[in-house]
Amino acid sequence: MNAEKPLSVVKSSVLALAMLATAPVFAAVTIDIDPAKPGAVINKNVYGQFAEHLGTGVYEGMWVGPKSNIPNTRGWRNDVVGALKELHVPLVRWPGGCFADVYHWRDGIGPQDKRPSNVHSNGSVEQINAVGTHEFFDLIDMLGADAYVNGNVGTGSVQEMSDWVEYMTSESGSPLARLRAQNGREKPFKVAYFGIGNELWGCGGNMKPDYYANLYSNYEAFLRAPAQSRPKMIASGGSGFDTTWTDVLSKELKGRTIGISVHQYTIAGATWEDKGAALGFKEGEWISILANTLKMDQLIKDHVAVLDKTDPEKKIGMMIDEWGTWYDDADKGARSALFQQNSLRDALVAALNFHIFHEHAERVPLTTIAQMVNVLQAMILTDKEKMVLTPTYYAFQMYVPFQDATSLPLAIKDNTRYTLGEVTIPGVSASAARAKDGKLYLALVNTDPHKPVDVAVNVAGTKVKGAVGRVLTAAAMDAHNSFQNPQAIKPAAFSARAAGGKLSINVPAKAVMVVALKE
Ligand code: AHR
Repeated sequence: MNAEKPLSVVKSSVLALAMLATAPVFAAVTIDIDPAKPGAVINKNVYGQFAEHLGTGVYEGMWVGPKSNIPNTRGWRNDVVGALKELHVPLVRWPGGCFADVYHWRDGIGPQDKRPSNVHSNGSVEQINAVGTHEFFDLIDMLGADAYVNGNVGTGSVQEMSDWVEYMTSESGSPLARLRAQNGREKPFKVAYFGIGNELWGCGGNMKPDYYANLYSNYEAFLRAPAQSRPKMIASGGSGFDTTWTDVLSKELKGRTIGISVHQYTIAGATWEDKGAALGFKEGEWISILANTLKMDQLIKDHVAVLDKTDPEKKIGMMIDEWGTWYDDADKGARSALFQQNSLRDALVAALNFHIFHEHAERVPLTTIAQMVNVLQAMILTDKEKMVLTPTYYAFQMYVPFQDATSLPLAIKDNTRYTLGEVTIPGVSASAARAKDGKLYLALVNTDPHKPVDVAVNVAGTKVKGAVGRVLTAAAMDAHNSFQNPQAIKPAAFSARAAGGKLSINVPAKAVMVVALKE
């Protein structure tokens, strides 16, 4: 985990939109897109998710068991799985997090009622292990996602991890393949990515990077899998702006890892003791969290600068496999560990990060937001049989066309600036890409909670006729969906037509917008 104090000034590309046709226009921003100069492909795994056995993130949030009155498929909630399918979730990281380093995979196979339970290393809610390897892959299959399984270095052993990888990936003809078949799965599972430990600098064992580099080599050497289905191995790296782990691991693990993870959380306050509230915050915490989250750009640049020296062949990716907002615990753990509400502000945080990830698509092939359900910046919140979709859910849904799209560099001219007190951030942030459906998509964020903005859009070589898509905004900065009012905030249809050969998009204050341009 990591977060920094608010920036006083953040520069970048930001764009603005104006809310309604009748709303007063406060500024005009111009965006120039040149489709003839495509950038890198935005790997769909940038839109990955993280599901940890923590609080009610898995149990209740997603898994209720086959005997539950809540409609389910082999134990997985139908409402939650149905909603997640709409996000085209490309990748799920599981079972932790810090939980990965206390997880023993053999506790999660065989008859569900005979499995021992265990407790997360943060001491929170008991985890019953009804969800183990087979159940996880059942979810993965239902979602049509890839699996990113995270192994246990902290309290495990080389033998235990080696056995798990063999259990999941080996063809028939080995004792572990036979055990898997006895447990109901003849064919191997497809493990796309395998993480060797988590936060080894902290909950994973308080290690130094050199020590972990040696351990990694030892573990990785015994992770045997058929060549054609060997998972891509990910090393667990450092936290936030500290590039030491990236430096050491990228030198020491050349050829043995396809990526080094970095974790970066966003808080609104100045310290971890005072992270700020999820709801009911003042404008100071609106701008501070947006300013803080924009630091992701510099953070990636810092790590990439190291990688560019140690790995000029660009074989090692930066895997940001934990990111998102983290607030003070409003009910002191009464609801469940790290359960937090999620407002329009979180949707803007997500969208600003998407734009940063798109810009660094070449070195950032994978990120997993923390977390999928009921934990931290979640897509979905549940309370027994009730479910609500969060503003962050809608941000992920609106950005689906960016999965595997080709990024298109853009220039923002005359951007607005949003200032409060000592803090100034760009008014408009934008990202463009040519999607797999052939359409040119433009995403816009207006960070200013008061002023809508007009954005003139120019696409080189063509006269854009219009734009059609969706916009997410609300009257209140902390607009959110609750179990009592689950439809309080959701995206609205948006369209704009060019006039006199020029397209101008009116973006509301505090909004996220994604449109397809009519070329
Ligand atoms: O996402 C919650 C926790 O944050 C994870 O378990 C850990 O990796 C990080 O510190």
